[in-house]
Amino acid sequence: MSEEVSITWHGHACFTLDMGKKIVVDPFINDNPAAKIKRDDIKADVVAVTHGHYDHVADAVYIAKKNNAPIVAIFELGNLLQEEDKDVQIIGMNMSGTTTVEGIQITAVPATHSSGYGEKYGGNPMGFIFGDGIKVYHAGDTGVFKDMELIQELYKPDISLLPIGGFFTMGPDEATYAAGILKSKVIIPMHYNTFDAIKQDAQEFKKKVEAAHKAKVFVPTVEEEIRFDRKTLQSL
Ligand code: NI
Ligand code: MN
Repeated sequence: MSEEVSITWHGHACFTLDMGKKIVVDPFINDNPAAKIKRDDIKADVVAVTHGHYDHVADAVYIAKKNNAPIVAIFELGNLLQEEDKDVQIIGMNMSGTTTVEGIQITAVPATHSSGYGEKYGGNPMGFIFGDGIKVYHAGDTGVFKDMELIQELYKPDISLLPIGGFFTMGPDEATYAAGILKSKVIIPMHYNTFDAIKQDAQEFKKKVEAAHKAKVFVPTVEEEIRFDRKTLQSL
């Protein structure tokens, strides 16, 4: 059970969560205009992919292979990634399923979005809950939806990573509403400013959320590492 997590944002929806083991979520590095490192610089014990769109899965197989790490994804997307490389280890799961990989508990939760993998159907899009001590919710690409209430009731995420870019996902207003549903102590915005279509002011989002809810918004810069333990979370 991890009572400590460090979170490093690589730009867009890509994060490294270190809970004793390193989970790399939605690896999009080499073609990511916001990235400051290369995919060869990424260390991973587990790779988790929320859905099949290129800006989430681009470097998944490469990083998984290089680090000898399994990829956690929805079943259908897992099969497609397996076709790409028969040696990559795939953990293909589905909604409300939980798996424990490298000692890290990972639960799949719904997201309202679409998911093609190239021209192929990539299974449904998902979000993830990581950890069984401190819990981190990575929402994936999603609009706001009322069943975020279930995510709150069942998993009580301490930290929520929410898209705020709009156009493809929630914008700041919807994400502010989502923060109210999720009741996480910490909100971290993602999936914004990578491209022109998703330009947003994260500081405005922070003001909005903190005025409306009992949550603290952290706006990391790319490659800044933020650490949380139980004590810091309780003091917020
Ligand atoms: Ni997407
Ligand atoms: Mn996306």
